[in-house]
Amino acid sequence: MFKRITGLFSKERISENEETLLQAVDISRLPNHIAIIMDGNGRWAQRRGMPRSFGHKAGVEALRNVVKLCSELGVKVLTCYAFSTENWKRPQDEVSMLMDLLVEYLDKELKELHRNNVRINALGQLNELPQAPKDAVLRAIEETKDNSGLILNIALSYGGRTEITMAVQKIAQMVKDGEIEVSEINEKLIGNKLYTAGMPDPDLLVRPSGDYRISNFLLWQLAYTEFWLSNVMWPDFKREHLLKAIIDYQRRERRFGGLKKK
Ligand code: FPP
Repeated sequence: MFKRITGLFSKERISENEETLLQAVDISRLPNHIAIIMDGNGRWAQRRGMPRSFGHKAGVEALRNVVKLCSELGVKVLTCYAFSTENWKRPQDEVSMLMDLLVEYLDKELKELHRNNVRINALGQLNELPQAPKDAVLRAIEETKDNSGLILNIALSYGGRTEITMAVQKIAQMVKDGEIEVSEINEKLIGNKLYTAGMPDPDLLVRPSGDYRISNFLLWQLAYTEFWLSNVMWPDFKREHLLKAIIDYQRRERRFGGLKKK
């Protein structure tokens, strides 16, 4: 059953196409958790004869739009891949630029995110970030910690393999300390030692820019996630694209390894 949900939004901001898409979204069956690999900033800029930094700046705008839409729709968790453990290998000026962009994004957006009841959270090795971005992230987490709306996970210095390795280390330590038996290690315990402890696994993974890879993102959590891939570069990603992804998701049959429901 499709429900008309456009009443949730102020009319002025909605293009005709978006309104049509909104009508096709079943608000009662939204993905609880959407994960996004925000890819293609560099290529988008280079195709315009511009430096890669130009693409990252445009990518922030796309992020802003997507966060707003998820918050308005009532999605519970949005996880955005902003910086991977492998991204440290990029030239120092690009790394610094991305870190500055993160500080700027949080400085500019924190009030608005707070007003919209968004809770900011970080997934990854925060201690590896330089002081200024680390402080900005910790402050954003602290200031929004009591908010009950959208949880915005920003994956920073994040790697799925590192996340699992750290969970294994924590569990091994518990066994060593005699807190648990080896036979008590199960999927629930492992899930509780990941950065996403207590959150639902992503229902929908969006990867723009035409690459078909997981790129070390949420390796454990994506076990039964539905993928939505697109050739659009992240800076061109609009609210309409996310609505299309949600509509496609709602048409899928999720069996989680079981059989079709009769
Ligand atoms: C991948 O595109 C994107 C990144 C490594 C950075 C993502 C960052 C943003 C969208 C903006 C910053 C957001 C915050 C919160 C700071 P790429 O550079 O690998 O693009 P390419 O594959 O075309 O080279």
